Amino acid sequence: MAVFVRSLPFPREGTFMRFRVSHETVPEWRGEDVLVFYRREADSLSFWALQEACPHAGVSLIESDIEDFGRAEGLGPCLACPAHMYVFDAQSGQCITQPRARDARTYPVSHERGDDGMVRVYLGREPHAKAATTRATVDQKRANEIQLSLVEIGLNRRYGTSEVL
Ligand code: FES
Repeated sequence: MAVFVRSLPFPREGTFMRFRVSHETVPEWRGEDVLVFYRREADSLSFWALQEACPHAGVSLIESDIEDFGRAEGLGPCLACPAHMYVFDAQSGQCITQPRARDARTYPVSHERGDDGMVRVYLGREPHAKAATTRATVDQKRANEIQLSLVEIGLNRRYGTSEVL
């Protein structure tokens, strides 16, 4: 059964947006803290939800940089943990840069748009069964490229672009 977790205004186009679901913010939520990403493209809205604690060492993924790199490879948006830059596919939870690392648990998330224009978001109580998620095939070279791109995006976001003269 899904839990109502948030009511949102219909977002502006393009940028990934995010929020955390925890027992503190949603009293009906009994599970682990979950990070929800969403993005609007034209009139459609997409959501992804995964455990907030990085499967590597438990650091929060809420400050992760996230970008869409791998649609051609069957990946969802990829996010890089701010601690050690392991990269996860937000769609499957797969860690694409460290094949032996544990994947992140992902959750079913759904939404509906009300007559008032607000978007109501619902989160499934149980994570997806691992077998139900589709793993992308990404070779190490491509995974490293995605990781480097996310590092660059993160540095630019934090410190701005700079040129070496
Ligand atoms: S804690 Fe996330 S990569 Fe190490």
